[in-house]
Amino acid sequence: MAVAGTTPETDARTAPYAAAHAADFDALRRQDPELAGVLLAEYERQTAGLQLIAAENFASPAVLAALGSPLTNKYAEGYPGQRHHGGCELVDLAERLAIERACALFGCAHANVQPYSGSSAVLAAYAALLVPGDTVLAMSLPHGGHLTHGSPANFSGRWFDFAGYGVRPGTGLIDYDQLRDLALTRHPKAIVAGSTSYPRHIDYAAFREIADEVEAYLIVDAAHTLGLVAGGAAPSPVPYADVVCATTHKTLRGPRGGIILCGSELAARIDRAVFPFTQGGPQMHTVAATGVALGEAATPAFAEYAHQVVTNAQVLAGALAAQELPPQTGGTDTHLITADVSALDLTGLLARGRCAAARISLDKCALPSDPVPTGSVSGIRLGTAAVTTQGMRESEMERIAKLVGRALRGEGGVAVEVAELAAAFPPYTRL
Ligand SMILES: Cc1ncc(COP(=O)(O)O)c(C=O)c1O
Repeated sequence: MAVAGTTPETDARTAPYAAAHAADFDALRRQDPELAGVLLAEYERQTAGLQLIAAENFASPAVLAALGSPLTNKYAEGYPGQRHHGGCELVDLAERLAIERACALFGCAHANVQPYSGSSAVLAAYAALLVPGDTVLAMSLPHGGHLTHGSPANFSGRWFDFAGYGVRPGTGLIDYDQLRDLALTRHPKAIVAGSTSYPRHIDYAAFREIADEVEAYLIVDAAHTLGLVAGGAAPSPVPYADVVCATTHKTLRGPRGGIILCGSELAARIDRAVFPFTQGGPQMHTVAATGVALGEAATPAFAEYAHQVVTNAQVLAGALAAQELPPQTGGTDTHLITADVSALDLTGLLARGRCAAARISLDKCALPSDPVPTGSVSGIRLGTAAVTTQGMRESEMERIAKLVGRALRGEGGVAVEVAELAAAFPPYTRL
């Protein structure tokens, strides 16, 4: 996309963002108007449309400030109090704060806040508990597993022997009987619970029971839901899992990054698996921003936010059904909805394109019923984390479902209405 740089007009439209980062943006604009233009154009894209990608959110100005801070200059290989570099006293404080906040918020003995991403967190969990060739059970990719859950295109599928469990055809709910049968026949070293598109709560107790029966580790990949857990809007995997991996940028609303939670007995193994085994020096600006996000996530306002995210998703799911877009499993317990677009004679790809043309960002998504080899998928995946951060509530969800329905039917004029709705809910004023 060609971006012309900043103009007085774009400056005026992006004033709230520029105001939140005045010093940085003045410097960037003066030195590199071309790149400043890209950043501000992306800000405009994010705020002039509806962000329904389930993995995204709007990090707060405080989180963005930590990300844009001088902590990015600091090398700090190792852990607080045990660094390979000098001058780490202050970044140690930042990392300790982030760790303490994570442990207090999630009720765990140990947290590692250094993973560069959710995938890095999963890689470190495997590195801590497994050796190449070990058998692992995870949700199969067409049923909602992530790339790190055994895709042949990913390290996980290349280095481990993954077997996939799935959901029941009628209900779309996890088939715990199949999972148990698979565990009894395959004797996995670890079972992974967690998904990239499963909209319902996961029965962590059932997973624990099956893992115990076959003496497997239970790794929960709560990449999508950890923010809901923080806000008390989803059950916590912490009491059940040996290791919990997650991203920090989805419902948790922090910087892009990963986090690992575990008990004290695995703490040293997890830390060594992150550094020096799978990563280099931590990105201390991101670690500090994670600390800021965890501070926000411990507030009553965040708990209210997390509950509203779920309420909004439930209302949106119901309203999409009325648009001939039936949600898988009949609804959702979380921020996430997967809906079937085939009744409108569309594929997921076409649906994503029509929505994009109407300034609605969402993902295409494989549904368990899709024939795997064709590569054509019939689902869309939406989430309410970002629009809820903007302050949207139930009535806006009803409106969004109608806008999505109209966009998918190819009606004109939707983009203008989407822009009007988005403009009424600027993201940086309600945090
Ligand atoms: C279940 C799950 N695990 C891991 C990840 C990886 O996160 P990242 O993109 O930060 O590597 C994702 C991201 O979508 C995810 O949904």
